[in-house]
Amino acid sequence: MAKAKTTGFFCKECGFESAKWAGQCPACHTWNSMVEEPVGKKDSSRHMLPGVRKAASHPVRLSEVSIEEQDRMSTGYRELDRVLGSGIVAGSLVLVGGDPGIGKSTLLLQVCRNLAAGNHKVLYISGEESLKQIKLRANRIGSITGELLFLCETSLEDIEEAIRETKPWVVVIDSIQTMYREDISSAPGSVSQVRESTNILLQIAKGMGIAVFIVGHVTKEGVVAGPRVLEHMVDTVLYFEGERNASYRILRGVKNRFGSTNEIGVFEMQEQGLTEVENPSEYLLSGRPEDASGAVVACSMEGTRPILLEVQALVAQTNFGMARRTAAGTDYNRVNLLMAVLEKRCHYEMSRYDAYVNIAGGVRMNEPALDLAIVLALVSSLKDRPVNPRCIIFGEVGLSGEVRAVSMAEQRVREAVKLGFEACILPQVCLGKMKKVEGIQLYGVWNVREAIGLI
Ligand code: TYD
Ligand code: MG
Repeated sequence: MAKAKTTGFFCKECGFESAKWAGQCPACHTWNSMVEEPVGKKDSSRHMLPGVRKAASHPVRLSEVSIEEQDRMSTGYRELDRVLGSGIVAGSLVLVGGDPGIGKSTLLLQVCRNLAAGNHKVLYISGEESLKQIKLRANRIGSITGELLFLCETSLEDIEEAIRETKPWVVVIDSIQTMYREDISSAPGSVSQVRESTNILLQIAKGMGIAVFIVGHVTKEGVVAGPRVLEHMVDTVLYFEGERNASYRILRGVKNRFGSTNEIGVFEMQEQGLTEVENPSEYLLSGRPEDASGAVVACSMEGTRPILLEVQALVAQTNFGMARRTAAGTDYNRVNLLMAVLEKRCHYEMSRYDAYVNIAGGVRMNEPALDLAIVLALVSSLKDRPVNPRCIIFGEVGLSGEVRAVSMAEQRVREAVKLGFEACILPQVCLGKMKKVEGIQLYGVWNVREAIGLI
């Protein structure tokens, strides 16, 4: 008799399951992503907790569904609430991803502290750190009051038990990669463990109306380790990013069933934990050299919020045949394209120069509205002539050197006025559609040549 198959092959990217190995996943076409893992019990995904009531198993009208105000809880941080879509939704499953050491545990511990102080029962489950380590961190972020319970556990069966007993409002699972189910024989962190563990947490969240935060580590490629199915299963995916050596962190929503995904939240890591940065523009522009060539202030929209930042360029004669180009904080190919536009449409011999473009402060911004600022920073550095430091610049640049319209021009201009800017170079198309803004001189331009003439 043939032996029953105990292992199968899973795609690390999308979770596709197959009986044989393949070099390329047939489902998502990723190369070299199939790994061999023991096959769990087939009925594992249908696992139902005894204490969990199945939500709405009979069809209802939407008008019968009541939405209560308390269904959304504030985290105590406006920056985080906005990214979540105005607070935590009861029964939601939120995945927080990020590089190790970026501050995921710190952020969630601080959120737990705020919730506990607001008379909510919170359960923080750590599979990575001991209670002593958590206490050391808690001491740094300040005193904890109210019902904030801690549990160091990695077995999901025990975690279910604890959740059913304590009935908290919010549960934090510190790292899904450390959790395991005993009835699945593969190691913690493997595709099937991560998927099945999330499945259970999903049932806990939906069935008991508990908001569950899951911490997920990211791989070298920057996606949450484990199968991509994890992202499909949860309601909200947030990435916590930032430079290791810079102190501020950006929380970015990449998926949100309860709000917009364009929002970002800005935090700063300090000795006593994370603090909110309410005015990121001021923060990003602080310490700016006033009359250096190659530095211009641009405006990027992050969701509904305009953020002013400094674009820097350094253009220097190349010593080798091949010019060097780098772009930090923005898209490298975009910078190459803009240099080609300068070369072809404005007749600057950019190929004879090395060019380094940087968004000051280590943030990553990819909005096309930065194009015009990058172009003018390059020209300013090439000519070694500083641009008026009280002038902001935004606009998308097209391949024929035209300056195209960008969205929400008026908000951008208002933000600039708020921070004391006196002049603004913007697409003429936007200027035509805008209401008048007091206290700032507006210059509309049709193309790059016109903008260069202005500075
Ligand atoms: P942590 O939350 O442990 O990161 P993650 O859970 O994402 O791996 O963050 C640890 C880092 O934050 C560590 O480098 C120390 C730093 N930190 C501070 O600078 N101040 C603080 O108050 C705390 C708690 C941590
Ligand atoms: Mg951690």
